[in-house]
Amino acid sequence: MHNRWDGRKVLVTGGAGFVGSHLVDALLKLGSEVTVFDNLSTGFHDFVNSDAKMALGDCRDILALKEVVAGQEFVFHLAAHADVRRNMQTPRAVWKNNVDATLNVLTSMRAARVNNLAFASSGIVYCGKARKRQIPSTQIRFMGRAKLQAST
Ligand SMILES: NC(=O)c1ccc[n+]([C@@H]2O[C@H](COP(=O)([O-])OP(=O)(O)OC[C@H]3O[C@@H](n4cnc5c(N)ncnc54)[C@H](O)[C@@H]3O)[C@@H](O)[C@H]2O)c1
Repeated sequence: MHNRWDGRKVLVTGGAGFVGSHLVDALLKLGSEVTVFDNLSTGFHDFVNSDAKMALGDCRDILALKEVVAGQEFVFHLAAHADVRRNMQTPRAVWKNNVDATLNVLTSMRAARVNNLAFASSGIVYCGKARKRQIPSTQIRFMGRAKLQAST
């Protein structure tokens, strides 16, 4: 049965991570040609489905991104520092990775005339209810701001 993903060229940044690797599996099942772009900072090569093309690279490197974005039809941007606790230990690095890197993704897409983007935001932007996990509210606010900034 035909579906909108069948035969589409799709790039997944962060495709070697927890969420991204499942997304890659699902897209491959739907018939997409998937390329994973990941620096393996928290992801694992073994997580990446062998039917996907693996491009080792960093979203902070705009030249590498431009190369991999060219020719794609759709980008799922999941690459980020996702750990709320770690975020406050290295705020500048997290900002670069979650905000500046997202701008690089957008710039590369514009250069390659790729118009379809799905961005992985976070529930923390909208509610910040992480009390059960005992995460201080400053950490929640920082993570939320970085994700919000990246999505605006
Ligand atoms: N896991 C959750 O419950 C959850 C909830 C809401 C939103 N999200 C968002 O979904 C996305 C994926 O989260 P996850 O839980 O799979 O995290 P994860 O750490 O498992 O995956 C992130 C992936 O991005 C890669 N990466 C990080 N920085 C990179 C960079 N500069 N260039 C290239 N690759 C880079 C890592 O190596 C890793 O493979 C994140 O954007 C996260 O904020 C996750």
